[in-house]
Amino acid sequence: MSIRNLDDLLAEGVSGRRVLVRADLNVPLDKQTGEITDDGRIRAVLPTLGALVQAGARVVVCSHLGRPKGAPDPQFSLRPVAGRLGELLGAPVHFASDTVGDSARSTVEGLADGQVALLENLRFNKGETSKDADERGAFADQLAAFGEAYVDDAFGAVHRKHASVYDVPARLPNAAGRLVLREVEVLSKLAGEPERPYVVVLGGSKVSDKLAVIEALLPKVDRLLIGGGMCFTFLKAQGHEVGTSLLEEEMVETCRNLLERSAGKIMLPVDVVAADAFAPDAAHDTVRADGIPSHRLGLDIGPETVAAFAAALSQAKTIFWNGPMGVFEMAAFANGTRGVAEAITKADAFSVVGGGDSAAAVRALGLDESSFGHISTGGGASLEYLEGKTLPGIAALEK
Ligand code: 3PG
Ligand code: MG
Repeated sequence: MSIRNLDDLLAEGVSGRRVLVRADLNVPLDKQTGEITDDGRIRAVLPTLGALVQAGARVVVCSHLGRPKGAPDPQFSLRPVAGRLGELLGAPVHFASDTVGDSARSTVEGLADGQVALLENLRFNKGETSKDADERGAFADQLAAFGEAYVDDAFGAVHRKHASVYDVPARLPNAAGRLVLREVEVLSKLAGEPERPYVVVLGGSKVSDKLAVIEALLPKVDRLLIGGGMCFTFLKAQGHEVGTSLLEEEMVETCRNLLERSAGKIMLPVDVVAADAFAPDAAHDTVRADGIPSHRLGLDIGPETVAAFAAALSQAKTIFWNGPMGVFEMAAFANGTRGVAEAITKADAFSVVGGGDSAAAVRALGLDESSFGHISTGGGASLEYLEGKTLPGIAALEK
């Protein structure tokens, strides 16, 4: 597979040309204050934006934020992101208060060489996420009119067949940005011939979200460590009672089947931190994974499990980690995620952290980002890549 990249575009010369950049600036916001709680995704597109600014392009950035329903919704405005992006770039970012309307048109027209504009949330428009190709196409026509070239640096959204990801590149000369290229380079290593032992750690709340990737990874990995909310459905499949823990009853049979086929590769928790309630101050204890009291729910993996997982990770040459091991946002239930993350940084292995929550966990826990081989900005996107699926946003860039 060969995709055009930013350097090809820069070599053609972009000075004075309008370049439309699809970024994934879908950052978490504090529910009360609306402040950006983790700006990792904004930082991740700086190399691409910086190169375009340096080359004198007129840069028009577009992104989604959250999941508004095809109409403007102030809680999902990108305005705070424009402010943060401007701080990080060291130059103001011109913000358009709509995506393809009057404000967007005049903002784009007013750009001087080397300046940056950010359009309002793409998903304020029905055409962005529409399943109807004509409706998407009509919106893509409007967006494409803002650029003479298109750069996709929105790795976190390449698995979405959306207008800005899939239909715009069909309308403009296009290229992958630095972030998309780096992500694809790293993940293709894991999907190809990773150095062994290859150990994968999966967490997060739902087995159903991870089923496809578990199926795809089982034949490839040497060990698959499972924690987070999804471990309880596996524990149930082993015949254990899980109290009031998160459980996907309809997935128990599937998990039993996976365990049977896994040839001992799947490692589950042997102890868990079980609490009275889903609350930061809930009474809690470490209990055996086969002895969770009926009135309690597991909110983290226990210390013995952390030690067992760390031992497996210490042997690894390649590691992929997606999904927290517990409710790391609450200090009482953060030790599992912290312990596993620290074990990953200590291993003499090439380590990749996949996606939104786990990347945010690394930063929220104050871990050194540079001690991981790569921190992906895409959760769903990195999993779908490893499943071997065709990603619409990547396919659209192929020569
Ligand atoms: C993400 O956060 O997973 C990406 O930004 C994609 O967002 P989405 O899952 O709402 O499409
Ligand atoms: Mg997602």
